[in-house]
Amino acid sequence: MGSYAAALIFCSLICSVAAQAPVVTVEPRTATIRQGESVSFRCQVKSNVQPVQLEWRRANNQALPDNVKIGPDGSVLTVANARPGNHGQYRCVANSAAGRNFANIVLNVKFPSKVQLTPTGPLRIRTGESVSVECRVTGRPRPTVTWKRRGSTLQLVTQEINDAHIIKWPSVRPEDSGVYVCQADNNVGKSEAEVELVVVGPPGSPVASVNIEEMTAIEGQTVTIECTATGFPTPVITWSKLRAPLPWKHSVADGVLTLTDVGRQDSGQYICNATNIHGYSEAYTDMEVDTPPYATCLPDQVRLQPGSPLVLQCLAHGSHPIQFTWSRVGRGSLPVGAETTREGKLMIASVKQGDTGTYKCVATNHIGSSEAMAKVIIKA
Ligand SMILES: *[C@@H]1O[C@H](CO)[C@@H](O)[C@H](O)[C@H]1NC(C)=O
Repeated sequence: MGSYAAALIFCSLICSVAAQAPVVTVEPRTATIRQGESVSFRCQVKSNVQPVQLEWRRANNQALPDNVKIGPDGSVLTVANARPGNHGQYRCVANSAAGRNFANIVLNVKFPSKVQLTPTGPLRIRTGESVSVECRVTGRPRPTVTWKRRGSTLQLVTQEINDAHIIKWPSVRPEDSGVYVCQADNNVGKSEAEVELVVVGPPGSPVASVNIEEMTAIEGQTVTIECTATGFPTPVITWSKLRAPLPWKHSVADGVLTLTDVGRQDSGQYICNATNIHGYSEAYTDMEVDTPPYATCLPDQVRLQPGSPLVLQCLAHGSHPIQFTWSRVGRGSLPVGAETTREGKLMIASVKQGDTGTYKCVATNHIGSSEAMAKVIIKA
């Protein structure tokens, strides 16, 4: 009895060993290549339960790139003409009736540094104005980046935001004029780009700025726009409107332009001009005036024979988009067969005596609404 039990335990041990999941190994486990090179990885499996299915995937579960190929028996993964995007982890997965196992490989794809500047220049900046240039850098391993002035070995102070190295001048001086170079190097390849800065105007040239560059006002409001200017001697500020005289209800005091009771015709670009003996500088504000709709009906009165067609057009001035809705005064709904369009038309193909009545159009935009009536008389 005792030996039988021992045999049972022994057998169950053997059985659990025999039912193990496949053992997966990969060769090599990591590889570092350059862009354009190729590499292969082999996946090997030990298993005493057959058959075993092999599968290669990306560890992040994305699809394999099209330059990554699997050999006929599924064990070899080849990356041909490697691209930066092939960088990452891959996984060989083995599946059998006894279970599943996997092993990871890591592919490092190095590629040369590349820099890109925005703006590209040449930059013509007035004395006292601000400017910044961004140098965006790619490359693996991560390149080291320097900004220098051409002809100087001094490294300039920059601000770094992710892969962008930004050089800033809060207020340019004539002596800042020159060529600036952004260099990147990651021992796979170097790259550089340069930008020319030209500071124009003597010190003391005016620089104008407005407190708001774009605004929307509603009809009837009072609007103020403030213009300030730096420079020496203190610049004189004047205001004008692009291709039109300033609105009649305007005033200017200390560089502040005030427009009272604005209307739709006051929409447009306002220009602040700061002038002194060294020159002038302009700053701009775009203003848009929104107005509620004003609706009319065309015609507003009509007399028709039964059987004739009816067409009423509702027209509206005001800020777009404008929506139109038609109804019949004193009744819930429009006559059967009446059609309306998005453009404000009401149509009845063949009118009946019972269609006599007053029709109302309501025009609505985001500011307000307006209504207009049309009287329709049908008589034989
Ligand atoms: C600004 O002033 C300068 C010099 O007075 C003038 O030449 C220029 O046309 C003005 N600009 C505008 C928009 O009025």
